[in-house]
Amino acid sequence: MHLRNTRFGYGLVAIVFHWTMALLIIGLFLFGKYMTGLDPLAPDTFALYQLHKSLGFLVLVLVVARLAWRLANPSPALPKTMPRIERLAAHLGHAGLYALMLAIPLSGWLMVSASPWGIPTVVFDVLPVPHLPVPAALGTKAEAENALKEVHELLANGLLLLVLLHVAAALKHHFLNRDDVLRRMIRTVPARRID
Ligand code: HEM
Ligand code: HEM
Repeated sequence: MHLRNTRFGYGLVAIVFHWTMALLIIGLFLFGKYMTGLDPLAPDTFALYQLHKSLGFLVLVLVVARLAWRLANPSPALPKTMPRIERLAAHLGHAGLYALMLAIPLSGWLMVSASPWGIPTVVFDVLPVPHLPVPAALGTKAEAENALKEVHELLANGLLLLVLLHVAAALKHHFLNRDDVLRRMIRTVPARRID
């Protein structure tokens, strides 16, 4: 069992990052949709929003650590048999997933920073996080908050769409192409070299 990636497969660290974050992000998406449907004045709503913010910050920290790990490791090569257009789609898709994993929590952070309520963010009730400076071009605090809510929602919906395509691609590799692409994101030693 190796921790680091090789040119042929992912190491344990990349695999644990991938599945922990996949669960966390899909959970946060559903959580976000659920909590925005609640009565804002109901007793538990405030605490649920704070939990959503804390878990969102966890995603932000994890994605930065994950990108650093990715830069310090080789990226497993895609199967040589993959057409050029599919390779391009895979690279663009992964870049898009990383971009959204960064942009969604950042848009959430900016949104709560713009809020006229000025509610402090204390991650998991222990780590206070300062508000970000909100660009004046976004208008008054209320206007900026509303615009950023739209952005946060749009980006989260975009992520869902991209994840669905990503899952479809992974299943196509496994069941139609019958290669090791899905298997190598599940266990560290690929059954065979796929390049
Ligand atoms: C990957 C991380 C995150 C995901 C996937 C996510 C997802 C979502 C989703 C799907 C919604 C519901 C949007 C709607 O349909 O109206 C939402 C709402 C919200 N999110 Fe996040 N979020 C993330 C991170 C964050 C962070 C880091 C913060 C703040 C620090 C945050 C603050 C909020 C707030 C305040 C709302 C409620 C907006 C409203 O009242 O309409 N989110 N989020
Ligand atoms: C929120 C959910 C998810 C996100 C954000 C996500 C993100 C990513 C990213 C960024 C990569 C590229 C890793 C790298 O090379 O640095 C990746 C790879 C991969 N993902 Fe996901 N993923 C998610 C869910 C899933 C699910 C549910 C599946 C399975 C059905 C899956 C299957 C794979 C596979 C097989 C790879 C490896 C591709 C390769 O070998 O090049 N992912 N994922």
